Amino acid sequence: MNPGHGAAVRIFPDLEELSQAAAWYVVLQSRNATAARGKFTVALSGGSSPKRLYSLLATDPYAAQINWSGSHFFWADERCVPPDHQESNFRLAHDAFLAKVLLPTENTHRIAGEKDPERAASEYEKHLRTFFDAPSFPAFDLILLGVGEDGHTASLFPGASTLRERVRIAVPVYADAPKPNRVTLTLPVLNHATNILFLVSGRGKAKVLHEIFEDGNPKQYPAGMVRPVNGTVTWMIDRDAASLLSERSRVES
Ligand code: 6PG
Repeated sequence: MNPGHGAAVRIFPDLEELSQAAAWYVVLQSRNATAARGKFTVALSGGSSPKRLYSLLATDPYAAQINWSGSHFFWADERCVPPDHQESNFRLAHDAFLAKVLLPTENTHRIAGEKDPERAASEYEKHLRTFFDAPSFPAFDLILLGVGEDGHTASLFPGASTLRERVRIAVPVYADAPKPNRVTLTLPVLNHATNILFLVSGRGKAKVLHEIFEDGNPKQYPAGMVRPVNGTVTWMIDRDAASLLSERSRVES
């Protein structure tokens, strides 16, 4: 098992069971954070893997157990599109659960994807510095992440210069059209989180997971570089995505 000692790996028969376990995990983290600090700060991701989790969070038994007024939702990354665009990560979470629960509007802290990427990144960074009142990097209670088939996570792509960022909290990511530009939290922010939860689903992820977990050099993949200094990492993986993992990776390290 390579992606950091202490990482927990949980494998589920399908995305439905994985999503239910992830919903309970979010409930647990919200309780812990609210008890310890009076609030719960979460950074969400886009993609297809968290969709079911997001819709479960709007329903009981999960919704009834989350202190929504003390919960604050941010994003690990955003595509530079307007908030009502179908590729918007804000829209994904908003439509699936944020608009359906008793969440005060000021508890949603979206990235302004409709703006120029550099401006959106600096405004987001400024907002995070003020909200967390942190001298260096904010410590989110929970950051939800996915993994791309190329090993990217949030909008941190393999080989990108953004991976070397050590000062900024959020940076722009430029893409070749027609792909949208993006804004992403930087690696030091991911590594200051109290808890990281990776959700990985589908056979298309089997090869990259095998490489991250078992190929000896997980750090060539951005997802393999996520190793919080003082936090936990949990991988929730469905059976298809785990199909190339050996027995030793399937147990907690
Ligand atoms: C995004 C993401 C991205 C995503 C992965 C996995 O906005 O696209 O935040 O990092 O988590 O690409 O996506 P899937 O869940 O679709 O596999």
